[in-house]
Amino acid sequence: MPFLLICRCFIILSVIIMVGCYGCGKRDVKQMAVGKRIVGGQEAEQGSWPWMVMLRLNHIYKCGGSILSSRVIITAAHCVNGHDAQDFEVITGKHNKTATEETETTYKIEHIVMHGLFNKTNLIHDIALLVLQEDITYSEFVGPVCLPAKTMSYQQPCYSIGWGNTKGTGDDDVLRQVEPTPVSPIYCYMYLKNKSPILARRNFCRGSQTADACYGDSGGPYTCQHGMNWFLVGIISFGVDCAQPLHPGVYVNVSTYYNWINYYLNIINNG
Ligand SMILES: *[C@@H]1O[C@H](CO)[C@@H](O)[C@H](O)[C@H]1NC(C)=O
Ligand SMILES: *[C@@H]1O[C@H](CO)[C@@H](O)[C@H](O)[C@H]1NC(C)=O
Ligand SMILES: *[C@@H]1O[C@H](CO)[C@@H](O)[C@H](O)[C@H]1NC(C)=O
Repeated sequence: MPFLLICRCFIILSVIIMVGCYGCGKRDVKQMAVGKRIVGGQEAEQGSWPWMVMLRLNHIYKCGGSILSSRVIITAAHCVNGHDAQDFEVITGKHNKTATEETETTYKIEHIVMHGLFNKTNLIHDIALLVLQEDITYSEFVGPVCLPAKTMSYQQPCYSIGWGNTKGTGDDDVLRQVEPTPVSPIYCYMYLKNKSPILARRNFCRGSQTADACYGDSGGPYTCQHGMNWFLVGIISFGVDCAQPLHPGVYVNVSTYYNWINYYLNIINNG
């Protein structure tokens, strides 16, 4: 707790020093009321998921992503595969997809680090890092998510967030959150193993008939609360058919890529 106390003092003392006190996985804006229900989800409170970013390709909405550090975004490899870094924009502080918002900031990408073994046919190793041209400015509404250690167990709640299709059940413009229901691990294992043994080892399933990620949510975070912080447990990879019981939402298991992520984070931060 001494760190927290020091942080509080800094916040009082200096706005500049305060920037150094934003830890990972902190949510300052709380969900106020239950919004519209959409594929079992609801509209997120504006600014309540600080690590959520929007990825645009040639100015058109493409995918979600998460802030890992002030220079690095993590997303799904299939979101960026086959395109040049300069064709993308990363937008922080976004809520309404179609509006221009006071809270938003746009960043350009310097280069893309895709997983070297990503396979676009079966979406094995669907993970990529985006290195920005300049540092993200953190605020109450913009900040990094925590990276899970290899051996962490998670508590509830866990949420998927995105600007994906609501299947006509809600407003497609605004950021939505859903608490997807678990899928039987055995069913998930068989379902993924059918596609590839690697998928079965490095991915997990969530979602059911009532709550799931959907088209357009790809690359976005599945975060779980652990104590006071939120951790990036999964990356939304493929939804197939949203909210269909026989086609669960499939997520990249981030902790199984812990070494890969840290290897590149070290290179990026030191070079
Ligand atoms: C989002 O922005 C668009 C364009 O400004 C606006 O028409 C729409 O009503 C907004 N949606 C919400 C839920 O605020
Ligand atoms: C990708 O996966 C497909 C289907 O499993 C396989 O046929 C193909 O050889 C793989 N591609 C690479 C480059 O490994
Ligand atoms: C991710 O993989 C780790 C290691 O295999 C496992 O312990 C953990 O339960 C997996 N996470 C999920 C959400 O399935």
